[in-house]
Parts: sequence; C-alpha cells; structure tokens
Amino acid sequence: MKLLSGKHLQGELVVPADKSISHRSIMFGAISHGKTTVTNFLKAEDCLSTISVFKQLGVDITEENGQIHIHGQGVEGLQTPTTRLDAGNSGTTIRLILGILAGSKLTAEIAGDESLNRRPMERVMRPLREMGAHLEGINQPDLPPLRITGSSLKAIDYAMPIASAQVKSAILFAALQAEGETTILEKEKSRNHTEEMIKQFGGEITVEDKKITISGGQQLIGQEITVPGDISSAAFYLVAASILPNSQVTLKQVGINPTRTGILDVLAEMGASIQQVAIDSQNQAADLIVRSATLKSCTIEGAIIPRLIDELPILALAATQATGTTIIRDAQELKVKETNRIDATAKELTKMGAAIETTPDGLIIHGPTPLHGAIVDSHGDHRIGMMLQIAALLTDEAVELKQPEAVNISYPTFFKDVAKLIKEDV
Ligand code: S3P
Repeated sequence: MKLLSGKHLQGELVVPADKSISHRSIMFGAISHGKTTVTNFLKAEDCLSTISVFKQLGVDITEENGQIHIHGQGVEGLQTPTTRLDAGNSGTTIRLILGILAGSKLTAEIAGDESLNRRPMERVMRPLREMGAHLEGINQPDLPPLRITGSSLKAIDYAMPIASAQVKSAILFAALQAEGETTILEKEKSRNHTEEMIKQFGGEITVEDKKITISGGQQLIGQEITVPGDISSAAFYLVAASILPNSQVTLKQVGINPTRTGILDVLAEMGASIQQVAIDSQNQAADLIVRSATLKSCTIEGAIIPRLIDELPILALAATQATGTTIIRDAQELKVKETNRIDATAKELTKMGAAIETTPDGLIIHGPTPLHGAIVDSHGDHRIGMMLQIAALLTDEAVELKQPEAVNISYPTFFKDVAKLIKEDV
C-alpha cells in the first residue's frame, strides 16, 4: 500500500478506545455476577479475540446500540469449550485468560496466530504453576498452543522478575480464586488497569507502591464501564503533530492514567508542546492539544519504560527528528512484542534514512535526519505499521508499506483518521 503523504496535521480527532481496558472490561464482565455494560468498547481485532474466546467459554455477550453487554455468571459459570480457544494476535488475551482458567473447573486448549505462538508464556506459567495450576505446552514446553486444566489454587508471594502488566494481571485473576492472601512485588510499576477494575467491580485489593496484596474467594459484581481513548493510539498523533511543521491537533478524551503517560513526560522533556484540557478525573481522561515544536534528544530508561513500552517505536521516530543522540535502554521487553520491535524499528527507519543503532536492550538514535522514500514492512505489527505511516509524512517521496492490514489489531480506522488531519497548505 502507498502510504499517505502530507506535511501538516490540523484538526480534532476522537482516537479509538483503550485496548487494555477494553480487554479487561470483557474479562471482568465474564467473571463477575450480573450484567456489565461497556460503552466505547474497542472494536479492533485484538479485543474481538477476547470476546470470541469468552463466547467459546459460553459467556453471553451481546451488542446493542454500540454498547457491549456481558452477562456474567462468575468463573464457575464458564463452560468447557468444544474447540481450541483462539486468542488471535493478542498477548493480553492469552496471558490473562490463563489466570482466569487456572482456578476454573475446565480443561481448555488455547493458541494464537503465528506471531502469538512464538511469544513466551513461561512468564505466566511459572507463577500460575506455583499457585497449583496445571498447564503445559502442547508442542513445546512454554509456547502456545497450551493446555490448561483448572484446579484449586493457593495464594503465593511472588517477586516479579520482569515488569509486565500481563503477568501481574494473570496472577491477580488467579489470586481472586486462590485460598489465602497473595502478594505480588512488581519489578517496576506497570499499567494498573486490572487493580483499578478489581476495585471498580467491588473487589478488595491493596496497593502500596510496588507491593500488591489481594485475598482469594472474592465475588465481583457486574458494572457499567466507559472506556477512554487509548493513549497508545493517541501517541502517533502526539509525535506526528510535534515533528510536522505548522501542525495542531486536539485528541479528545484520551486516557491519562499515570501508569500509561510516560510518553507525555518524555515528549515534554524533548521540548514538545502538549496541553491537557477538559480533564475528566473520574474517567482518568483529558483532551490533549499538541502543536509543532523543535525537539531535542533525551535518554529513556529505567522505571519509565513500562509506562511507555508500547510507545517506543513512535518515540524512536520522534528521536530521528530531534537534535542530538537519543538513547533508549532497559527496553529488552520490546524483543518479545508482536514482533521484535527493537530490530523492526531500526531496520525499517534505516531504510528511510534514519541513523539508528540497535543495542541488546534498546536503540541509539542520532538526529535530526531527513527521511526519504522506501519500501517498508510492518512485520505484521500494528504499532510498527502506524509508526511508518507517520514517518512517511516526513518525506515527499513515495513510501510503500507491506502488510498494512496489521493496523486492524488496535486501530482499524487509522489511515482514514490520518487522512482527515492532513492539510497541504497551512
Ligand atoms: C498490556 C501490557 C503490556 C503491553 C501490551 C498490553 C496489557 O505488555 O505491551 O500491549 O494490557 O496488560 P506486557 O505486560 O508484556 O509488558
């Protein structure tokens, strides 16, 4: 596909709903008692995988007037699936569902697409096994397809060896069903949507900095959820409008949960102009107004990494336009995302003229460099594909993207939305 060109972005946009919260709204709805209604659910491939997995598990999920209704009957209401569960491309779906099924009375098999079937599962299998879960790789020890047989679980004290919200969430879902009190010590604070939603669905959980304590045997009650816009989708415009001259974009009601706003901190440090207005504190959302700015390099490392892990490819693009050398380190987790995002980011941006080196745990980017036309590839990864479309806006030459359909994973209307904001003469 030939990518869109255009030198300025102007206008207002409602970005798609948050992917992490949309997944969890279905999961919590399914394991709670009573009806959950979700407003502004993200209808993109990943979250539709979560819906279809829970439908396979016998949960009644319907759509009416754009809202999703889930009729939850608790974990005990889940039914044995007749076919292998299909998590598609979604790491969140497979890892969190393992935590839910660990304490159920079911046996199920679960797998995903080619990319997901290569992603490590040992990180969730280890703590869940420690809790008493029975799970095994069908072809290889810690890769999908996996077979899980629910069993009675006991609480654990678990110090996480990696910062991962998916691993933490899988343990929390299992802990809700375990006997006793589970404590989790996070390596670094990662997104806390699961903890927030446990409270929202009437559960009890204590969070003291990186220590989380939760008791088993809790009953959750269905709720009404409104999903804010996804800052990980807004990220593409935050960077695009910053690096394209004469640009100003307003992104409506974007989620600003502090465990997700690392990109705002980094862009501020780089000299970007991003204003938060119309703040809705109850829903943790705000309109973000971003204007063109001259960016300078920075170092992105340590505790901020989990707060912007999905935004690193687009931040790497920002760094190609910033003055000086930007260093990204402590980001080895990027290697086990939908693709190896360290390699994919460097490889594809290098084709367009960027000066990027890979390191074992990140990237070194020398800027500013003009970008030029090329044939690039999303590697089947939605965030790499979207980053490359923003990169294409920086050149008048043709940029051809292979596997553009990857954007459907989190943002099916991405190219249409970019086209809406492009203004040629400003
Ligand atoms: C997610 C957690 C992160 C993130 C992913 C969504 C979640 O993964 O990269 O896109 O919803 O919990 P890790 O937990 O593997 O870091």
